[in-house]
Amino acid sequence: MESTPIDDEKQKDIKDENYLATYIRHLEKRLRILEVDKKTLDQERINLQKELDELKIEFNQLRAPPLITGVITDILDENNERVVISTYSGQSYVVITSKSLRRENLFPGLNVALNQHNYSVMELLPTSKDPFIKGMELLDSIPDITYEDIGGLDFEINEVREAVELPLTKPQLFEKVGIEPPKGVLLQGPPGTGKTLIAKAVANKTQSTFIRVVGSELINKFIGEGARFIREIFELAREKAPTIIFIDELDAIGAERSEDATSGDREVQRTLMQLLSELDGFDNRGNVRFIAATNRADILDQALLRPGRFDRIVEIPIPNEKAREDIFKVHMKNLRCEDSINVKKLVEMTGGFSGADIKAVCNEAGMFAIRKDATIILEQDFLDAIDKILKSRTSPSDIVNIYS
Ligand SMILES: Nc1ncnc2c1ncn2[C@@H]1O[C@H](COP(=O)(O)OP(=O)(O)OP(=O)(O)O)[C@@H](O)[C@H]1O
Ligand SMILES: [Mg+2]
Repeated sequence: MESTPIDDEKQKDIKDENYLATYIRHLEKRLRILEVDKKTLDQERINLQKELDELKIEFNQLRAPPLITGVITDILDENNERVVISTYSGQSYVVITSKSLRRENLFPGLNVALNQHNYSVMELLPTSKDPFIKGMELLDSIPDITYEDIGGLDFEINEVREAVELPLTKPQLFEKVGIEPPKGVLLQGPPGTGKTLIAKAVANKTQSTFIRVVGSELINKFIGEGARFIREIFELAREKAPTIIFIDELDAIGAERSEDATSGDREVQRTLMQLLSELDGFDNRGNVRFIAATNRADILDQALLRPGRFDRIVEIPIPNEKAREDIFKVHMKNLRCEDSINVKKLVEMTGGFSGADIKAVCNEAGMFAIRKDATIILEQDFLDAIDKILKSRTSPSDIVNIYS
C-alpha cells in the first residue's frame, strides 16, 4: 500500500518525538552527572577552606611568641575567669583565662601556659612530675631505720617526735588544746651526728612516705629549675601523704640573701622563695610534715626560721659519753665480737667522735679481724681501729670546738 503524504508527516513527527525524548533523557542524565560533580566540588572546596583555615591558624601560632609556663595558685570567681598565677620566676599575677579553655577544668595547683605579654592563661598543661621527679631516687617509700638504731639523742628525738610525729598520728591532741603544731623542725649539728637518721626513723614510725631533697643537688642538678622542682616535690608529697619531706643541706638553698647577687644567687633565691611560699601554703595540721637539716643554722635566711616555717630548731650535738656508749652498742649489735669487750674504754678513747665516726670504728675493727682471718672481733681490733681513725684526721677535739 502506497503511503499518503499525511502518513509521512505523522511518521516524521513520531521520529522527532522519539529523538527529543532521547535527547531530554540524555540531558537529564548529564544534569545528574553535573549535579554530582558540583556536590563533589563543593565538598572539596569546603575541605580546602578548612585546610586553609587550619594552616592560617598554624601560621599564626608559629609566628606567635612562645607561651611561658606557670601555675594557678588561686581562683577568683565562680566562672574561673580570673585567677592568680605564679610564674617560675616566683612572681604572682592576677590574670584572665582564655575563652577557648575548658574553664571548668581549672583548679589551684594546675600547670598552665601563659601569654607572654599579659600572662593570660592560654592552655592547660599536664601535671608533669614524670621525667623530673619520678625517675629520681628521692622517694624512699618508708625507710627501715627505727629509733632503736639511734644511739643517744633521746631528748632531741623527743623534740622531733612532738613536732612531726604527734601531728601525724594524733592530730586531735592539738585540736583539743587549740594550738597549732610547729610546721617544720630544723635539725642543726655537725656532720655525721644522726640528723638524717632521725628523719628516717620518724618516717618509719609514722609509716610515712619519705621524700629527701638535698639542697646542694637542687642547685647543681636543676639549674634554672629549682623552683619548679620544689613545687613538684610538694605536689608529690600531697599525693603520697602522709609524707615527711626531709630537706637536707638546707643551707645550700637557704643561706642569707645578699644584696649584690649574681645570676646563680638569684636562681638560689628563687628556689628559696618557692620553698617559703610552699611552706606557707601548707596547713599546719595536714599530713605532710617537714624536717630540714643543716650544719650551719647561723647562716640561714631569717625568713626560714620565722614562726609557721622551721620554727623549732633542734640542736644535734656531738655525742657525750653516755651517747657514745649507746651508739657503740647500736653498731656492735650486729657484729660478732668477743664477750669481754670493755665498751667503756672505747667510749673514753673516742671523745669528740660523731656517730658516723663510731660506725667507722666498728667497720674498721671488723676489717682488722678479717685481715687476720679471724671470725670474731677482739677488743684489740677496736683499739687499733680507733687509733687508725684518730691518725687519719687532725684532731677530733677541733671538731667539737668548731660547733660548741
Ligand atoms: N646517734 C647515732 N646513732 C647511731 N648511729 C649513728 C648516729 N649518728 C650517726 N650515726 C651513723 O652515722 C651515719 C651517718 O649519720 P647521718 O647521716 O644521720 O648524719 P647527719 O647528721 O645527717 O650528717 P650530715 O650532716 O653529714 O648529713 C649513720 O648512717 C649511722 O650509721
Ligand atoms: Mg645527713
